[in-house]
Amino acid sequence: MNSILNQNLVLKGKKIILRVDLNVPMKNGSITEVSRIVKILPTLRLLIEKESKIVILSHIGRPKGKIINGMSLEPISKKLSNLLNKEVLFNKNEINEKTLIEINKIPNGSVMMMENIRFYEKEEQNDDSFSKKISNLGDIYVNDAFSCSHRAHSSIEGITKYIPSYCGLQFIEEINALKKITSKITKPVTCIIGGSKISTKIKIISNLIKNFDNIIIIGGMGNAMLKNTGINIGKSVCDDGYKDLVEEILKKSKIHNCQIYYPLDVVVSKELNGNGTIKEINEVNNDEMILDIGPKTIAKIKNIVDNSNTVLWNGPAGYFENPNFANGTKEILEIIANKRSKDKIYAVAGGGETVAVINKFNKLDSFNFVSTAGGAFLEYLEGKELPGIKALN
Ligand code: 3PG
Repeated sequence: MNSILNQNLVLKGKKIILRVDLNVPMKNGSITEVSRIVKILPTLRLLIEKESKIVILSHIGRPKGKIINGMSLEPISKKLSNLLNKEVLFNKNEINEKTLIEINKIPNGSVMMMENIRFYEKEEQNDDSFSKKISNLGDIYVNDAFSCSHRAHSSIEGITKYIPSYCGLQFIEEINALKKITSKITKPVTCIIGGSKISTKIKIISNLIKNFDNIIIIGGMGNAMLKNTGINIGKSVCDDGYKDLVEEILKKSKIHNCQIYYPLDVVVSKELNGNGTIKEINEVNNDEMILDIGPKTIAKIKNIVDNSNTVLWNGPAGYFENPNFANGTKEILEIIANKRSKDKIYAVAGGGETVAVINKFNKLDSFNFVSTAGGAFLEYLEGKELPGIKALN
């Protein structure tokens, strides 16, 4: 894979289209966690030092091709400017024939951030004409968004067909670390999967079964398992339509001798900002939401982790943003930290929310590696060649 460290690459005065992942957690318009911003600083500093003109492309959230004010990258451009200690120009104009003129005007060594690339529906369609259009904005493309490389989208995959393409420093770091990890994994391997991106991750679980001894499914993912095995989850987060996948997961797990676990008890509330009540799994009322795992589930997780040699974790156990529902997630961190301090367990975590939780509770040292990637991390563990990596190869 060609990287921007390539000695023959001339960067001075070149327009660099830099794809990064600024999909950071936000609450009421404020950024709640900055790891993904901090991670792109080395590549940015290098390009600034080399006197390139940097055009940042990123997405935040899933606006599905619509302009949504709450999903603007503008607050993130301000935060980046702060952390970089340098002006970051924000270009909220639609990408059209004038954009190149605007980019050409910026001096060498300056940074311009474009608005959320997912405001264009053609981005996720990986539309050829759109890929070509964005490639025309620069001379060189750099992907420093490993965490988006499982997406065959225009700014990740399509664009590489039209312009010389390289990977950035963070991308190299993530790939090298994950390569090392996959070679070090020893059985029994336990994968803990939580979070709320059910549609993305439920398919991945089915493919991960063959690689792992235990899969613990919690958070929104746990809701999908409960709902589709006949448990009332009230008004908890969960879409319809996963019945077949859940059946497939349970069937495959028997074939591959992988134990699947999901919540045995839960913490519920009628409101996200309410207090929690511990309930048995069959006691959830229609007007309640499952917002955390209960003590029996935590004890079970401890037992499984204590008997594992490798633990891979992606996605919190509940709505940890409210301290009343953060206990399950905190306990998982404690369980992994304790086990690592006593034993030679190999622990790796990944994902935007997971990184946020680990930082919030100061547990970075309890892991061998923490990846900024969530879905991409899991798909990499599946052994898949990710479209963003393939494109750079
Ligand atoms: C992530 O948060 O994992 C990446 O930003 C990708 O986001 P997506 O799941 O919405 O494609």
